[in-house]
Amino acid sequence: MPDTPAPRMPQDFVWGVSTSAYQVEGAVRDDGRGMSIWDTRCITKGGIGDGSNADVACDHYHRAAEDIALMRDIGVNAYRFSVAWPRIQPRGRGAVNPKGFDFYDRLIDGVLEAGIEPWLCLYHWDLPQALQDLGGWANRDCAGWYADYAALVARRYGDRVKRWVTFNEFSVFTLFGYAIPWAAPGITDRAQHLKAIHHVNLAHGAGVDVLRALVPGASIGAIHNRQQVLPEHGKPENAEAAALLDEHWNLAFPDPQLLGHYPPRIAAAIEPYVQAGDMARICRPIDWFGLNHYGPIFAKTDPSWTWGYAWGDAPAGAPDYGVGWAIFPDAFRDELLEITRRYRMPIVITENGCGGSDTVDADGAVNDPHRIAYFRLYIDRMRDAMRQGADVRGYFVWSLLDNFEWGTGYGTRFGLVHVDFQTLKRTPKASSRWYADLIRGERAVR
Ligand code: FCB
Repeated sequence: MPDTPAPRMPQDFVWGVSTSAYQVEGAVRDDGRGMSIWDTRCITKGGIGDGSNADVACDHYHRAAEDIALMRDIGVNAYRFSVAWPRIQPRGRGAVNPKGFDFYDRLIDGVLEAGIEPWLCLYHWDLPQALQDLGGWANRDCAGWYADYAALVARRYGDRVKRWVTFNEFSVFTLFGYAIPWAAPGITDRAQHLKAIHHVNLAHGAGVDVLRALVPGASIGAIHNRQQVLPEHGKPENAEAAALLDEHWNLAFPDPQLLGHYPPRIAAAIEPYVQAGDMARICRPIDWFGLNHYGPIFAKTDPSWTWGYAWGDAPAGAPDYGVGWAIFPDAFRDELLEITRRYRMPIVITENGCGGSDTVDADGAVNDPHRIAYFRLYIDRMRDAMRQGADVRGYFVWSLLDNFEWGTGYGTRFGLVHVDFQTLKRTPKASSRWYADLIRGERAVR
């Protein structure tokens, strides 16, 4: 049978790229920025796998114009970025920093001038350190501080920015920040983890209310990472570990935000921290479900970890293109269908992408066929899910640039554009041309 060409996406389908402030901006001490919990992590011995830090990162703070030109060359119609809270309020509350506001003015105006729509995420993990000193997300007041910060950002940019995100990957920064010490602030405590879950949910609800009140015509989403959690080696003794991790990873945030209740295991444990009226404060109508997806997780029982579960191994022989993150495109399609079934709302894929250790060839090119193969498979499964009823409105590649990959540092590169971290030279990879061709083909007149 001849190959049937892939059906085109709707003409208003959003093709974008994503970054986050801490991973690309650098300039951590410039223009009055305050310290974040990730700056603290970087100066903590053993905090970052390769001993690096994000003081310079991609220097996007000073090179935003060059990076916008790269996006224009690819032809994306959206740029998802995050605002660094410690640039806006260096101590997390109270006094604001005019130069921090100015930076995002320049960025947003430059993006709009390039014909690209800005998608602004209010929180991508870089909590001001001054708030962590007061307990961070384990302190219920943090929800109110976040709402105040959200209002400042909404007032300043709401005239030009219409696409808003309250948080990126709630479950990752709460689980890895408060129970498994893979991210800042590196706490391992069940009670603090539960409190953080609830207070971040409250902050999300307050953020939605602020955005609705201050930004006319706002389109509001929240970004959840959803990856299937499977028992390691399919063994029954790992089943409860997988079930609990599934609640922490996949359900702890979208269920209360969209269905109005916690999943069963969390509901029982979190009750002491829930006050009258909280669930209504959390469950506020939003416009779309932001999905970040990479591949399934395998869980195993391990009583020495905070919650009695640990990360297990993928089945032997599972493809991972050498990066260690298992590649299962069918799981992507299944997640899209499961979100559709469970939450019945439009979906925007806000992150999907493939890591690698890409290098520049002698002739100056960066060839990353593994990444192109990954995109082909995953975008193909996205089309399958859409044919089967998933209402997917957009797809953002993680990431525009190679960048600071949190606790591991700079070893794993996710960019469409290679960054030489010595010289900061940008080199578009083969995958960026592939993505540009895909977008051009999708837009071509039928
Ligand atoms: C996601 C994060 C993003 C990046 C990718 C690889 O979990 O949201 O910042 O680190 O993973």
